[in-house]
Amino acid sequence: MAATHLYLTGIKPTGDFHLGNYIGAIRPALEAVQSTPTAYFIADYHALNTVKDADELRHSIRSGAATWLACGLDPERTLFYRQSDVPEIFELTTILGSMTPKGLMNRAHAYKAARDRNNEAGTTDLDAGVNMGLFNYPILMAADILAMEATHVPVGRDQSQHIEYTADIAGYFNHRYGDGAGGYTFPIPKGVIDDSDASILPGTDGRKMSKSYDNHIPLFLPEKKLRKAVNKIPTDSTPVEEPKDPDASVPFQLLTHFASAAGTAAVRKRLEAGGMGWGDLKKELFEAVNAVLAPQRERYEELMADPAQIDRILAAGVEPARERARATLARVRSAIGVG
Ligand code: TRP
Repeated sequence: MAATHLYLTGIKPTGDFHLGNYIGAIRPALEAVQSTPTAYFIADYHALNTVKDADELRHSIRSGAATWLACGLDPERTLFYRQSDVPEIFELTTILGSMTPKGLMNRAHAYKAARDRNNEAGTTDLDAGVNMGLFNYPILMAADILAMEATHVPVGRDQSQHIEYTADIAGYFNHRYGDGAGGYTFPIPKGVIDDSDASILPGTDGRKMSKSYDNHIPLFLPEKKLRKAVNKIPTDSTPVEEPKDPDASVPFQLLTHFASAAGTAAVRKRLEAGGMGWGDLKKELFEAVNAVLAPQRERYEELMADPAQIDRILAAGVEPARERARATLARVRSAIGVG
């Protein structure tokens, strides 16, 4: 298959999504669908490293799929599938493993962080609690990307090392097998990392919204709970009448991501003029977030109430995804001498 443009990203189904995921990953990925071929998939075997309960994993897979579908992913326009449905990815993982230096894996951030934690805790075995799934994570991710011959991989900054590793691993392969008759050359994928303010949503404490900071607001909170969560965002005690600096206010920052430009400008004016209290601002914020998310929440709930529908949508992605991966694997197998 020729190396045409393909945007590909993996959705790790571990727990529920929050507003920061929506603004930073889901919305931009769905906008990209307008201008480029896309493949978005549920990375369930990446989740298996941490999710060890079958019902929980099953639920997370469906919930991850339902979230993206509810936010507007159209399986007619985006290749949408589940990693575990594409066995070619795992065959490629084995092949790539045999040409990946172990030292490269030793330097992977997530693995090093696990060792650092053991070190700080005074555990003598620095690999305690580390499974091979965590160690091999970057190779599986490289296989996800290379099996589909993806050219662009939109990810968060925390994933940039994984994309560099994928490029390195593809490079090892290409160097050895790229030339000559029957050779095969992987396209080298590029990470697409958006660090702009437009893609980084502050959490309730003003730091980047993240589950690990516990400053997040879940994406599909029921309306009442969403209102509560918004009302709980800390603000200072500036009296209502006093002028306020919108740019120093977390609720205002959040508002800019959900309200229209005109709506945001009007609230900015009112804050700067004085007379608008934090309570009023939070009311505006709730309305804006709810206006964006209410229809999606409804669709999410519909899908989660009918898991067979989600399963059917995922099943429809199996053949087109495998077809693409099969074509890659046929060339790879032949290039290495097993096909
Ligand atoms: N590791 C990614 C994350 O934690 C998920 C992922 C798995 C992925 N495979 C991928 C992302 C391939 C991009 C491409 O978010």
